[in-house]
Amino acid sequence: MTASIIDGKMLSAQIRAEIALETAEFTAKTGVTPCLAAVLVGDDPGSQVYVRNKQKACEKAGIASQLHTPPAKISTEELLALIDRLNRDPTVHGVLVQLPLPKQIDERQVLEAVDPIKDVDAFHPENVGRLVQGRPRFLPCTPHGILQMLKRNDIPTAGANVVVVGRSDIVGKPMAILLMQRGEGGDATVTVCHSRTRDLAAVTRSADILIVAIGRPRFVTAEMVKPGAVVIDVGMNRTPDGLAGDVDFQGVQQVAGRITPVPGGVGPMTIAMLLHNTLTAARLQTS
Ligand code: GUN
Repeated sequence: MTASIIDGKMLSAQIRAEIALETAEFTAKTGVTPCLAAVLVGDDPGSQVYVRNKQKACEKAGIASQLHTPPAKISTEELLALIDRLNRDPTVHGVLVQLPLPKQIDERQVLEAVDPIKDVDAFHPENVGRLVQGRPRFLPCTPHGILQMLKRNDIPTAGANVVVVGRSDIVGKPMAILLMQRGEGGDATVTVCHSRTRDLAAVTRSADILIVAIGRPRFVTAEMVKPGAVVIDVGMNRTPDGLAGDVDFQGVQQVAGRITPVPGGVGPMTIAMLLHNTLTAARLQTS
């Protein structure tokens, strides 16, 4: 069997078109243009590409964007002062601090400084807590993008065995929380694996839906996948022979039922969900 491709690029374009329409309606009704302020510290080329793509997507959807680029040597205090300024600016609805931050910066303190109502990444402890309690304000962008991919491809989660490989705060943890919630997009039986998991392949082979977010190129191989499973690859790894996911696409494609490519899978969905959150933030801040 050869897996069919779940096309994140196409789906993202469709969702972004929906958001563009909603944004136009919102702006016509309120006179407010939603605005995302991105903070990019230093000059990491990968982060520069990600932030540029986020800004381009905003522009196309009728969402304004600002880019703040403090130098890599900025202190935590100086960065906190910038975030405070953005928090107070009524024309800014969403504040995004691109990760990773340079080593000298206290990342926790910075993410906690973003006003929770402008926290379009959903990294603030208040928003994480709300998510865990099943009353989210914003859904974290990558896990939400994956849920949309499943939903819009008619892949049910209720009762499914979902295995999440990776326990990061950005993807693995919130992904598992969302999938285990009651109701639409949830009701799954969720297993989270990580670097200390015993007999990883036995666990991943139990998955109806396998979601991999570990940042190790081509780590998941065909023997680790149940025939017919849905495989979602969150990895974006630069290798000597180009961009690679966390899944060995060539091999796993022979076994899986459906699979996301890299690039053109989860990445574009993350951006679409960021736009969704920025519009939500503007709505929440506009009476
Ligand atoms: N770095 C990698 N993924 C993300 C993300 O979703 N948001 C931010 N702000 N930084 C990231």
